Amino acid sequence: MTTTAVTHIASLVTNDPSLGNGTPLGLIQDAAVVIDGDRIVWTGESSKAPATDNVLDAAGRAMIPGFVDSHSHLVFAGDRTQEFNARMSGQPYTAGGIRTTVAATREASDEQLSDNVAHYLAEALRQGTTTLETKSGYGLSVEDEARALRIASRHTDEVTYLGAHVVPPDYADDPAGYVDLVTGPMLDACAPHARWIDVFCERGAFDGDQARAILTAGRAKGLHPRIHANQLTYGPGVQLAVELDAASADHCTHLTDADVDALGQGDTVATLLPGAEFSTRATWPDARRLLDAGATVALSTDCNPGSSFTSSMPFCIALAVRDMGMTPDEALWSATAGGAAALRRTDIGRITPGARADLVLLDAPSHVHLAYRPGVPLVSAVWRGGARVE
Ligand code: NIG
Ligand code: FE
Repeated sequence: MTTTAVTHIASLVTNDPSLGNGTPLGLIQDAAVVIDGDRIVWTGESSKAPATDNVLDAAGRAMIPGFVDSHSHLVFAGDRTQEFNARMSGQPYTAGGIRTTVAATREASDEQLSDNVAHYLAEALRQGTTTLETKSGYGLSVEDEARALRIASRHTDEVTYLGAHVVPPDYADDPAGYVDLVTGPMLDACAPHARWIDVFCERGAFDGDQARAILTAGRAKGLHPRIHANQLTYGPGVQLAVELDAASADHCTHLTDADVDALGQGDTVATLLPGAEFSTRATWPDARRLLDAGATVALSTDCNPGSSFTSSMPFCIALAVRDMGMTPDEALWSATAGGAAALRRTDIGRITPGARADLVLLDAPSHVHLAYRPGVPLVSAVWRGGARVE
């Protein structure tokens, strides 16, 4: 194999607290990283780097692990510009627009859907996202959900079955029948194509009992749970996520003290999605409160055509720092190691020997610039699995 060293990195985020300055980011100044094939094989001070086949001088730029976006909805067709315009003129977000995207998605060909996923995945990769989870949820029939998951799994290993996004119009008079479909024939058709199962546990979508039934059925078929919880209102989603040892409770916008305590004590990651609050003009989740309670916090885009049409993790970092009480260090950790925790992965989200060589070089002297210089395209080079992204 060919070894490559990136040297003279002004500031390297390893996410290994035993390295460098001893903080959770494990920051090393004037650092080097050596990769061999798709793996990182050495991390340390530039002056001590071993000899390699190739050397790339980072010339004072910062390096961070590739972003782990653990929550997106990329299998969709259509556009909801009008709905966004209406919201920015004062209309509230109700999630009712999901049905608009369901209609457009059902109409689209496999090729259109696959091209769409590829388009947004490439857009995210250019902005430093090297791992991306994505969901079904705009099909809401046995065939359309299974099709969405088959298409998603062509593009990523982190695929989530979200047949329980909302009750589709064809089941409006029979929500219990729809839950039977989601936990029965639809689950049978979808489970082979997914790693995770998700439910939108919210007033107007699925209640706590329905969500428990859906996630438990998914678990019996080998899918691991994650939940859209407490986005629009207070509710049972977060407590249910912790009770079922879900990998993550996503949104966490409206939390009681008991919800915060549960997340502080359990292994369920609190995944915050500031793009959704930005694009729906909603109350910001309180990351500070969660962090102070000891919760593991992840940041993700929630990229979807309705509530959060951004694929940019740097944008989410800037929002989390400006409006959710996170420090730049905490936000960077949550967008990398936090996302890895939300996907229960140990091979990504860090720059340490043995990890996958997912690296982002910034056109800036430190990761703090991601929040300090919001909206500026600072990602100057990306490697995914050791391959340089063009
Ligand atoms: O995570 N809240 C539910 N699902 C998405 C929104 C989907 C949509 O509006 O199309 C979310 O925000
Ligand atoms: Fe979502």
